Amino acid sequence: MSVPEAVKERLIQLRQEIEQHNRRYYQLDEPAVSDAEYDALQRELRELEQQYPELLTPDSPSQRVGAAPISAFAAVRHEVPMLSLDNAFDDEDVQAFDRRIREKLERESVEYVAEPKLDGLAVSLLYEDGLLVRGATRGDGHAGEDVTHTVRTVRDIPLKLKGSGYPGRFEVRGEVFMPKEGFQAMNRRALEAGEKVFVNPRNAAAGSLRQLDPRISAARPLAFLCYGYGVFPKSALPASQQDIIARFGEWGLPVSPELRVVKGAEGCLTYYRELLARRHQLPYEIDGVVYKLSRFDWQEELGFVARAPRWAIAHKFPAEEMTTTVLAIEVQVGRTGALTPVARLQPVFVGGVTVTNATLHNADEVKRKDIRVGDAVVVRRAGDVIPEIVKSIPEKRPADAEEFVMPGHCPVCGSEVECLPEETIVRCSGGLFCPAQHKEAIKHFASRRALDIEGLGDKLVDQLLEKHLVSDVADLFALTAEQLAGLDRMGQKSAENLIAALEKSKRTSLPRFLYALGIREVGEVTAANLATHLGSLDALKAADEERLQAIPDVGPTMARHIATFFRQSHNLEVIRKLLDAGIAWEECEPPKLESQVLLGKVFVLTGTLAELTRDEAKSRLQALGAKVTGSVSKKTDFVVAGAEPGSKLDKARELGVEVIDEAVLLKMFSGDLPEGGT
Ligand code: IVH
Repeated sequence: MSVPEAVKERLIQLRQEIEQHNRRYYQLDEPAVSDAEYDALQRELRELEQQYPELLTPDSPSQRVGAAPISAFAAVRHEVPMLSLDNAFDDEDVQAFDRRIREKLERESVEYVAEPKLDGLAVSLLYEDGLLVRGATRGDGHAGEDVTHTVRTVRDIPLKLKGSGYPGRFEVRGEVFMPKEGFQAMNRRALEAGEKVFVNPRNAAAGSLRQLDPRISAARPLAFLCYGYGVFPKSALPASQQDIIARFGEWGLPVSPELRVVKGAEGCLTYYRELLARRHQLPYEIDGVVYKLSRFDWQEELGFVARAPRWAIAHKFPAEEMTTTVLAIEVQVGRTGALTPVARLQPVFVGGVTVTNATLHNADEVKRKDIRVGDAVVVRRAGDVIPEIVKSIPEKRPADAEEFVMPGHCPVCGSEVECLPEETIVRCSGGLFCPAQHKEAIKHFASRRALDIEGLGDKLVDQLLEKHLVSDVADLFALTAEQLAGLDRMGQKSAENLIAALEKSKRTSLPRFLYALGIREVGEVTAANLATHLGSLDALKAADEERLQAIPDVGPTMARHIATFFRQSHNLEVIRKLLDAGIAWEECEPPKLESQVLLGKVFVLTGTLAELTRDEAKSRLQALGAKVTGSVSKKTDFVVAGAEPGSKLDKARELGVEVIDEAVLLKMFSGDLPEGGT
């Protein structure tokens, strides 16, 4: 079918007009038409090109993708366009991709390079005679922004290449991103300084690179990995994707240690599953994996469709962020009476599960994130981490969206709430009078790390309280199988199982028992410290605040909470009932004063120990009376250096602090003590 002259003319006219608008809009920042008019031109062009595909050229403005440069940066026209990738969302998509390639090439099986899809910002780096001369963002794929000045601040990017054999002029392409650790540290600092935090590492990377002032980007923890090339002399091009990446590595450019050559769709899918499982262990965020046909000659044979190559595809991981609506903000009362706002959400599938609630932590957090009932919000669930609301989307806020107000009374028992000056948390003052606190206290008592009473779940505790079968934790041990069997969803068998579990839980340890009591601020570590340092429940009851504060990790507030707890007659009564019910543990040896051989000595641990975990080393040191701190100062007596020690070792040397290794530490544990240590 021949193309009518009028159509050809209209096409040329449309392209010129759109290019002109693009220039005015993107580069001069002075659009001459409305967005709607511009969209209409684009639509007409695309329709004509669809009708007459022979007229479609790769430089047609319909083929532009992504965002365009802002006016403040110089524009860089890409000699070789920076393409995008098609997406695969499931196994079938990947199998279809592989099938298309094999059919086109008439091959039984082909190899791919598989690598992580980094969640950052694509850049193209131009090297001339081994020197970095320009860095550019992708922009719309044809023209990006000149970010040479900020790219030069990324420490991973060599300003000068190593070795030899590189072409006189070539471009390397890759992703600038912000590793998770740096991202978190940066946001922590921003939060402390009362500044704006970044929502995710990708935005942080983009925001950091697209800075006019390179001093700002230099202060940001940016990193780079390369995954391809742009301008590159054909005569110098190696045979495959893995070969060019290996070359880049030799020239000092950072390449991904995760790159693998795999065979066929099956190889791709195995790689995908393996990386998905390790996703959260990687030091940077990835949103999928990319498969690229390995051989360059075959890549060329396959070519491109519109904006993406036929020889590569991005296999996306399930989204970890989704948008949904806040239906209500309710207030939950915890074991210690803390009032926690919780958002009830329109159910949303995110990170592989359906999420219906997200904690908002406290009133300050709700205010900071400005979350209101009715808001559209971004919900994030990464790995096993509990779902959180990242931010609200104020542009989508309904006019009647209500602001959240923390109630002045406990929503469960009506007691007044109190807000201690040193805390951001608001608490119900009802204590165990408050059914919510009561219930949480029982659940805590039974939890795995406390008395570990198997089968005493949430719903069951609710019923026990409603039916007045228990009023404190000691009553649990007076329950009978008959009483339990009469409850909802409890048969004779499960009732008997629970009685057996209760019986079994009676043999416990002092640390577990202390933790189970639910004393404010006393976690597992403190419970263990109290047990080892005081030796018995009676000694703990008798200890005053001063004695308590001599125990590692016990500060004044915690000492006050502990002493207050053991002064309350109702607490002592519950403890007596528990002991009468038969709860028992083996008494630990009360520490003899002579065994506190490292009393007052200050230790700092750095690097990885071979025989002990850090926690073991720490608690054994503390058991001997030593103090273990996190940073080296003049007060430090010993720095224990394991493999790959950090800057603490340098600091120790600088201050002349004695450095010992693990062998010496183990000797100390077996009684071979440093001079003056006894
Ligand atoms: S290859 C022609 N490899 O994903 C191939 N891209 O959706 C062009 N990306 O703009 C890209 N990791 O910003 C490639 N290992 C990887 C990648 C990767 C992240 C980004 C890149 C690109 C976008 C395409």
